Amino acid sequence: MDNNRSTFGSKFGAVMALAGSAVGLGNIWKFPYITGENGGGAFLLVYLIFIAMVGIPLMLTEFALGRRGGKNVSGTFKKLAPGTKWHYFGVSSVVCCFIILSYYGTIAGWTVEYVQLFIKNSFHGLDAVQIQSTFNDFVSSPVKPVLWQVGFIFLTGAIIIGGVEKGIERYSKILMPFLFFLVVIMSIKACTLDGAKKGLEFLFTPDFSKLGARSVLIALGHSFFSLSAGLGILLTYGSYLDKKTDLVRTAIQVGSADTIIAILAGLTIFPAVFAFGMQPNAGPGLIFLTLPNIFGQMSFGAFWGFLFFILVSFAALTSTISLMEMLVAFVIEELHMNRVKATILTVITISIVGVLSTLSFGPLGGYSLFDKSIFDIMDFVSSSVLLPIGGLYMCFFAAWVLKKKDLKDELTNGGTRQFRLFGVYIFLLKYILPLAILIIMLDGLGVF
Ligand code: PHE
Repeated sequence: MDNNRSTFGSKFGAVMALAGSAVGLGNIWKFPYITGENGGGAFLLVYLIFIAMVGIPLMLTEFALGRRGGKNVSGTFKKLAPGTKWHYFGVSSVVCCFIILSYYGTIAGWTVEYVQLFIKNSFHGLDAVQIQSTFNDFVSSPVKPVLWQVGFIFLTGAIIIGGVEKGIERYSKILMPFLFFLVVIMSIKACTLDGAKKGLEFLFTPDFSKLGARSVLIALGHSFFSLSAGLGILLTYGSYLDKKTDLVRTAIQVGSADTIIAILAGLTIFPAVFAFGMQPNAGPGLIFLTLPNIFGQMSFGAFWGFLFFILVSFAALTSTISLMEMLVAFVIEELHMNRVKATILTVITISIVGVLSTLSFGPLGGYSLFDKSIFDIMDFVSSSVLLPIGGLYMCFFAAWVLKKKDLKDELTNGGTRQFRLFGVYIFLLKYILPLAILIIMLDGLGVF
């Protein structure tokens, strides 16, 4: 590792930064509704198995590669496999994160609009139809969503420009504990509402009749997405972990934090949904349409709504930070720029591409390819094509190209830590992970 390369300043800070990447819209927006649609507790069970058997091992693999290579996602392969073409795969991960960040900013921007709507108490007295039209008018308007999205990306850039320890770590150490505090408070509030019990039953009672093959695939795909695995982000952050950090323990801590926050988000949303007689399976509209309805009927609803969307926007922010850092690390090291210039370049290009995604809900709505809007295409290309490719090449590299001895050396800090399950890990890495990723990919491409 370069002597002057930055690392996280503390273990706590590193875990907060990593958990910040993992905890995002996937936990608070997606996890609750896919759990609701796919059999509650039964789905949760399958999801937990995938987190442990697929998500965490992949995270561990990225950590090991990143720390061993000590560079960005492309540079790491140049270092670990000099003179080969492996580093081109790294570039595909960079493209993938670039696309994800561009459209993630769109939704992140919406969450900020909602913070502001609750401050103004704008949902007060609106019925479901009016809430729906408030949402539709906002997302399709040509100016406001763009301003929020670009603002969000600029804010992310302002944090990244500070560097690994003084930017990312510093803000993660503030944002993550606060986020945790908020979700705990909100889940207590939700679980003590009259009629909350039905929501708990819904979340935890396994209904295996609703758990089809589809649900299993959704759980598998989400276990990657939720941990931000397969993208080279964890690899980049791994390169900032110092040699003494216990990688196995860190991966378990981050995986657990991510899962606990997802469950707490479920404990916030479902009890409230049932207490107010709403439907739990509203899909993606759950937080933007169903929840404002609920807050509208709750005492001090505007306050709770405000807190909830602060929570969601913080979660989104720590994720956009990690997406941008992986890009900026690449630009700094491969295009030889300093951090300030690299960040400015990234912020500007992401904003421009992101605007296309944001406007695809309004003025650019007419442009589509294979019946998909610009936003949907970006989502499809990144999550269904590039992300699985990323997961596959990293697994393949770690399992078959890197020497097993070196991998073990990295995972045990040169033999100073125990990793009793190393054999199991290698088995998962060689056979189970690639198979799982391949299945996700074929599914994403519509093969099943
Ligand atoms: N893990 C984040 C979430 O759960 C999503 C994410 C994916 C963030 C990829 C960064 C990169 O929402």
